[in-house]
Amino acid sequence: MKRSQAPLLVLVLSASACSGSSPEEHSPTYHRDAKAVLNRYCNDCHQLGGIAPFALTDYATARQHAPAIRDAVEAGRMPPWMPSDAGVPLAYSRKMRPQDRQLLLRWIELGAPEGDPAEPPRQDIPPLPTVQPPRPDLVLQAPEVYVPQAGRADDYRCFVFDPKLEQDVFVQAGMVRPDNRAIVHHVLVFEVPAESAQRVRDKDAAEPGLGYTCFGGPGGGWSVRTVMGWAPGGVPQRTANGIALRLRKGSLLVMQVHYNLINFKGVGDRTETVLELSPTPPQKEAFLVPLANPRELKIKAGDPEAKQVVSVPVGLIQSFLRWPPGEMTVWANAPHMHLLGTRIVTLVEDGPILVEIPRWDFHWQASYTFQEPYVLRQSDTLRVECTWDNSAANPNQHTHPPRDITWGEGTTDEMCLSYLLITPGGLSP
Ligand code: HEC
Repeated sequence: MKRSQAPLLVLVLSASACSGSSPEEHSPTYHRDAKAVLNRYCNDCHQLGGIAPFALTDYATARQHAPAIRDAVEAGRMPPWMPSDAGVPLAYSRKMRPQDRQLLLRWIELGAPEGDPAEPPRQDIPPLPTVQPPRPDLVLQAPEVYVPQAGRADDYRCFVFDPKLEQDVFVQAGMVRPDNRAIVHHVLVFEVPAESAQRVRDKDAAEPGLGYTCFGGPGGGWSVRTVMGWAPGGVPQRTANGIALRLRKGSLLVMQVHYNLINFKGVGDRTETVLELSPTPPQKEAFLVPLANPRELKIKAGDPEAKQVVSVPVGLIQSFLRWPPGEMTVWANAPHMHLLGTRIVTLVEDGPILVEIPRWDFHWQASYTFQEPYVLRQSDTLRVECTWDNSAANPNQHTHPPRDITWGEGTTDEMCLSYLLITPGGLSP
């Protein structure tokens, strides 16, 4: 844990370029066209040492993988972007613009021609929007490299940090810096309040080596709050001006790293998380509220389409948080299930769908920030719908024969959980 004081940085959203000529104008080549598309939509992950199994950063590899690229792009598997278009517009989308997708497919159809290496790549593809990285006020980095145990497919590890907070502080930006990108699959940062700290310290002490094994969360009970998350391709996160998340005095921070060990070659990892604190208390405190009904989650053994529907009136959230009645604003949504989930949707009853994940994939979960915050009325009700396939035919089935499943933090338990980032009141201060 390091703490530093640095000057305040100002939020700068990168301007997106406007679109230019249509892909039909000429026949696409690698150097002018495909390279720009692959760099924009694929090579965050498809680079040497990246999370993807091969790089797509030069002509030879792009050409070699051209048929696989066509299949993956046509089927919508790549680039991985899980939300459907049914929900509200989302920021930082990885989804390809139709013209860029068409350009890439056309290039493959023409036999993946190389073109002239001297020709500059096209500049008309809007870059991935990013935010100003956080100032490192709180840095969570393990004291040494952690080497996962070989011989298993996944290792979920929780690393414990004590920021020694003598008063409440407010987080306004955060960023995960994955170290060994070949194995870091996703990262979640949790705040464990003082009253649950001993439970987490005990877990940490009970296991040899750095940290302890954890899956759904750090195991500190319901008062644990999620602070931020990261998955490959994830960008730094920053709340809107005047809004920040509270970290309570005496809390521990737990960084959970999911290591996927398929590409593991014995090299360890020292991933870090950087948090920026608000120098003054924010105008509005944001809250990550989990919508869930754990006791009612019952998934029957063998059921190929088990469902849970959780309805939560806005008024109930307000009274729970002791917020004044009236409007409430939602900024982002992070849906969460475990391995057997097939679909999850968070919506406003008689209103819009916020985020729909039509084909849930545990490995590609993320927090989705809305392009425009959504203002709820006090009379609104939020709803989360989860669907699971608990049959033996589900390729992600972990228990044979399938058994009844309830709520829990283990790999073989399930959750139907949707986090909303909310602030009290509407959009005016
Ligand atoms: C956010 C990271 C990420 C991005 C962005 C991404 N990929 Fe992948 N890609 C992966 C990973 C990881 C795999 C390994 C299989 C898996 O986990 O789904 C993969 C596998 C593949 C495969 C082989 C398996 C399959 O599904 O056919 C192809 C082909 C592929 N990617 C092409 C692309 C192309 C083309 C793009 C851009 C248009 C792209 N990927 C963008 C991470 C990414």
